Amino acid sequence: MTLSLIQKRRSIRKFLKTPVEPEKIAVLIEAALRAPSSRGLKPWEFVVIDKAGILEKLANSKPYGSAFLKNAVLGIVICADPKRCDVWIEDSSIAATYIQLTAQSLGLGSCWVQIRERMCDSTRTAEESVRDVLEIPEHLRVDSLIAIGYPAEDLPAHSQDELQYEKVYYNRYGEKAKNAK
Ligand SMILES: Cc1cc2nc3c(=O)[nH]c(=O)nc-3n(C[C@H](O)[C@H](O)[C@H](O)COP(=O)(O)O)c2cc1C
Repeated sequence: MTLSLIQKRRSIRKFLKTPVEPEKIAVLIEAALRAPSSRGLKPWEFVVIDKAGILEKLANSKPYGSAFLKNAVLGIVICADPKRCDVWIEDSSIAATYIQLTAQSLGLGSCWVQIRERMCDSTRTAEESVRDVLEIPEHLRVDSLIAIGYPAEDLPAHSQDELQYEKVYYNRYGEKAKNAK
C-alpha cells in the first residue's frame, strides 16, 4: 500500500476548488502528530490554513515556487522550536513527508513549499513573511508549507528507468551489487 503510494507520488501544484472534508483534514493532522521525532521531543507545531485569503497572502511568501498556493484549498505550515530539539529540521521534514503521503492516500494532491532559507524579497526572508501573515511567535522557526487539495492535474509516475540506482552501493562506497543495473 505504502510502496504503491510512493510509486505514484508526484508534486501537485494545480488544485480543484473542492474543499477538503474536515474528516480528511483531521487525518492529515493525526498523521503529522504521529511522525517520528528525535528522542520523541516533537519540536514541531502546525498551522492549518483553510481560508482562501490567507492562502493568497502565503502565495507571496517568495518570488518563485509559492504562487500556486493561491489555488490550493488547504495549507499546512510546519514550524518548530529549535531550543526543543537540535534536529528540528529533520523532525519537521519527516512530519511534512507524513502529511504528503497521507494526503495522497486520501486522494489529495500536495506540494512542498520551502520557506526556511528562502527570501521573500531583497529585504525580508520567506520565514519573516509567513511569520507575519500567521502571527507565528519568534521562538519558532518556519520550515515549510504543504499545499494540499484535490488534484486538477494528473502527472505520470516516475518510471523505473528514472531511478538513479547508480547512486546505491553495497557494503562499501563504490561497490555495486553483482546484478546491479
Ligand atoms: C525540500 C523540498 C523543497 C521543495 N520546495 C519547493 C518549492 O518551494 N516550490 C515548489 O513548487 N516545489 C518544491 N518542492 C517540490 C520539488 O520541486 C519536487 O519534489 C521535484 O521537482 C520532483 O518532482 P516530484 O515531487 O513530482 O517527483 C520541494 C521539494 C522538497 C523535497
